[in-house]
Amino acid sequence: MTVRKAVIPAAGLGTRFLPATKTTPKEMLPIVDKPSIQYVVEEAVAAGIEDILIVTGRSKKTMEDHFDRAPELEAELAAKGKTDLLATVRAVSSLADITFVRQGEPLGLGHAVGMARRHVGDEPFAVLLPDDLIHPRIGLLARMCAAFDSCGGSVIALMEVADPSAYGCARPEPAEGGLVRITEIVEKPASADAPSNLAVMGRYVFPAAIFDAIDQVTPGQGGELQLTDAVALLMREQAVFGFPFAEGRYDAGNKLDYLRAVVELALEHDELGPGFRDVLEVICRREGIA
Ligand code: G1P
Repeated sequence: MTVRKAVIPAAGLGTRFLPATKTTPKEMLPIVDKPSIQYVVEEAVAAGIEDILIVTGRSKKTMEDHFDRAPELEAELAAKGKTDLLATVRAVSSLADITFVRQGEPLGLGHAVGMARRHVGDEPFAVLLPDDLIHPRIGLLARMCAAFDSCGGSVIALMEVADPSAYGCARPEPAEGGLVRITEIVEKPASADAPSNLAVMGRYVFPAAIFDAIDQVTPGQGGELQLTDAVALLMREQAVFGFPFAEGRYDAGNKLDYLRAVVELALEHDELGPGFRDVLEVICRREGIA
């Protein structure tokens, strides 16, 4: 695997999820029994990546604590003989080699990814936006890393949506290996101007050249330094491919889609699944849901 590093920009305020996110980072909201950021880290690990940089901001301390050792908790679980829980807690802190850097100012996603330059150096790397939760069964990032190795250009996850105006939006041309070649990319176009219905979902594999493109970006949509604009600049120099996929993505920053993720993943949970199915059946019957 040539992609050994990943960057997770997690500095956002999470205003779409207030009041839950008034004091809790949105990335720490649980999906069943794990905070959503843990699924994202596990997706990177499943792609063979062990070196992860998380770009954070103010009030994100609990996220750092989550991936750290917890000596008092571990000692108490050991003393009480709760070995399964102890193993679960320890496993989180040894998932990957995780480093944190602070963004300082909320200047945009392009700026946040640019903060990773020193850490990433000259290597290709992955970017995972934690609002986009990808079902582990999809193995999306692992497949994108394999595509990066064979196509020799950036690889960006794309999904067809009814209205791409809330996303980065790409114009595709046919390419080989299940990919499309992106010929135009624009951040949050007006519906009428969208180049297609293919929306950028938050998974990217980039060569280090993206950092030079980020340096050239000027404030764009929303007055922010946009990653999408850096991709558009990179496309002038080298090929950028889209990796279309059709299912298994949840918007963890949207209350309704968050609930969908919780319900689906709870139903599939080894221990909780059967009991939760019974609970759901009772609720559905009572509510007249078929
Ligand atoms: C970001 C990106 C956008 C992408 C989206 C995916 O937007 O800028 O290109 O389509 O994530 O979730 P945000 O949702 O942070 O405004």
